[in-house]
Amino acid sequence: ALVVGRRVRSRRKWKRVVGVLKELEERCETTVGRLKQVVDAMAVEMHAGLASEGGSKLKMLLTFVDNLPSGSEKGIFYALDLGGTNFRVLRVELGGQRSDLDPDVEQQPIPEQLMTGRSEDLFDFIASSLYQFVEKNDSVQSPITKLLGFTFSFPVKQTSVSSGVLIKWTKGFAIRDMVEKEVAGALQQALIRKGLNMRVSVLVNDTVGTLALGHYHDADTVAAVIIGTGTNACYWERTDAIIKCQGLLTTSGGMVVNMEWGNFWSSHLPRTSYDIELDAESPNPNDQGFEKMISGMYLGDIVRRVILRMSEESDVFGPVSSRLYLPFTLRTPLMAAMHEDDSPELTQVARILKDVLDIPDIPLKARKLVVKICDVVTRRAARLAAAGIVGILKKIGRDGSGGITGGRSRSDIKMRRTAVAVEGSLYTQYTMFREYLHEALNEILGEDIAQHVVVIVTEDGSGTGAALLAASHSSENVNNIQ
Ligand code: GLC
Repeated sequence: ALVVGRRVRSRRKWKRVVGVLKELEERCETTVGRLKQVVDAMAVEMHAGLASEGGSKLKMLLTFVDNLPSGSEKGIFYALDLGGTNFRVLRVELGGQRSDLDPDVEQQPIPEQLMTGRSEDLFDFIASSLYQFVEKNDSVQSPITKLLGFTFSFPVKQTSVSSGVLIKWTKGFAIRDMVEKEVAGALQQALIRKGLNMRVSVLVNDTVGTLALGHYHDADTVAAVIIGTGTNACYWERTDAIIKCQGLLTTSGGMVVNMEWGNFWSSHLPRTSYDIELDAESPNPNDQGFEKMISGMYLGDIVRRVILRMSEESDVFGPVSSRLYLPFTLRTPLMAAMHEDDSPELTQVARILKDVLDIPDIPLKARKLVVKICDVVTRRAARLAAAGIVGILKKIGRDGSGGITGGRSRSDIKMRRTAVAVEGSLYTQYTMFREYLHEALNEILGEDIAQHVVVIVTEDGSGTGAALLAASHSSENVNNIQ
């Protein structure tokens, strides 16, 4: 009788966790029908954000980048890339012909206290690193002013291609005295304090740098997407479609628009109670809703919340580990490692659960459950990112829906080859994420259209692209290609 009783109890506790999983799966459902609703909502919000200032949660920020590098740029340019977990300094020599750029790059983590301290400290720290980097490669004393492209991956209201003010922080940065302040100016002041003869000649978002590098290598590139610590996209737009700036003129007739899609929101997004809690407990509630479902800063934490819930409902993970209550203990790279553990006994999963979450010795069945949770959360993220990409294609008439070609059938439409540059660790380092994203692109667009859409990975694009833009926007290198 004792054995039977135990079996019944065991069956009941499994039933409870399977219930939690089922509910998660249902709430994270991303059928093609639903993804198409997200696509439409994205395109609609893009229109609204372009129509008027504050017209949408999508800010659709002007970048003043009105030409993209073509390959003919010449000279030595520097770039500084700030915005994720690390910051990078780089130097690139351009020979006037398209080539495999091989920039010198140095990377370091940003000390955590600088992410929430005073802006002067952060910029002095960056200027010092840049100084040391320049010293290694060129003469710091040289009377010739060096040009610097500054990639600053936060929402900025630009006043020109080389200036703009920070609208708000995202991704855990919180330097209060910087909000609404001139960003390039703050860096320029720090460079002057350091005695470095260098001018911040362009200020760009990381998506914009990525688009620049993508376009340098492949002139069919019309949009760029970052899926890393945060997520965002930018694309090339006709100036006459940017209605909120009537009379905006550029010689090329177009301009790059930074969407800040991390802040996109739609009632069609599949939301769970875990998302709601994560948002409420974040430093920026009601902000960056799309980002919180997709990007690397948050995915691991959604998984942690699901495991916590299961652990509270039953003891399949043993007694509730106190580590499960700590936000961001389970980081996304470790989540990916669990998800992609292909050993029969799921030894990676066991090790990570033990080392990181202090959950030792759980049965294989429970480890499989963890893998499944990672799968559900990542699949939803990747499919939503794919829907976002198709939303952009739809807006610019490259999704094959015939918006600009009249009522012809899909098969009649001659699709132009369209390239999208993608960067960020989720896409580049997480195979399952990448595969789910591609699968969803095919499902939403249909294979005959999807074959014309190429996704190109740009390495260090956000930084190298800024150096290229410093070049293409410098007076010696003016060219308008679009
Ligand atoms: C956040 C920032 C955005 C950036 C993205 C990717 O969403 O607000 O500017 O492009 O992260 O780094």
